[in-house]
Amino acid sequence: VYHTPELTPNGQVPDCAIAVDVLRATSTMATVLAGGGEAVQVFSDLDQLLEVSEQWPAQKRLRAGERGGAKVAGFELGNSPLDCTPELVEGRRLFISTTNGTRALQRVQDSPVVLAAAFINRAAVVQYLLEKQPETVWIVGSGWEGSFSLEDTACAGAIAHSLVEKSQSSQDDLAGNDEVISAIALYSQWQDNLLGLFHQASHGKRLLRLECHEDLKYCASTDILNVLPIQREPGVLKSQ
Ligand code: MLT
Repeated sequence: VYHTPELTPNGQVPDCAIAVDVLRATSTMATVLAGGGEAVQVFSDLDQLLEVSEQWPAQKRLRAGERGGAKVAGFELGNSPLDCTPELVEGRRLFISTTNGTRALQRVQDSPVVLAAAFINRAAVVQYLLEKQPETVWIVGSGWEGSFSLEDTACAGAIAHSLVEKSQSSQDDLAGNDEVISAIALYSQWQDNLLGLFHQASHGKRLLRLECHEDLKYCASTDILNVLPIQREPGVLKSQ
């Protein structure tokens, strides 16, 4: 488990990288693909997003820009998963740039397998790991501008917790992996009150100041979408 993309080792790639930005980028991506979106394409740079998306038919694209939690002027969408209804997203590609989540995905885009995970699609991610058994897995929490994120770490713990349970292995097999053990402990403490955890988290508080209460509630629901966003070409995720 790496708390922010900045802390992932340089010059190494795992067999499978899982980017996590519970609040809210990876929750939004999972929602778009579950709603029938054609793909999600991520950008760290807003201008580059505009340039690339210009080449896409207007009725087949949606452009989402978020900075500091707020929607960027001139974009159709900010980063609220609740705006991404099936009626809106079906058959369209979401071009998206967010403060941290899209950067986390770009940081690991050279890994042979890249997934996007949040609480809402945790079970689909765990199912993939159980089936494919990749040897090295990184779970990369997006954090906030390089700092630790409570909710991303708890989601990493939720993935690891379920993996241990479903593979009938013992938590002792994780001995020595301090980060994963602490992520599981965090999740175990809050699993029945994830919304409460989000209310304690710095980015949760930022979103509450921006009146995003409903987003927090939605992002706190676990295993509600059976969708696995998987990278098909660098920066482009589709539903498996
Ligand atoms: C990000 O990428 O930093 C976030 O998803 C911010 C947000 O909540 O929109």
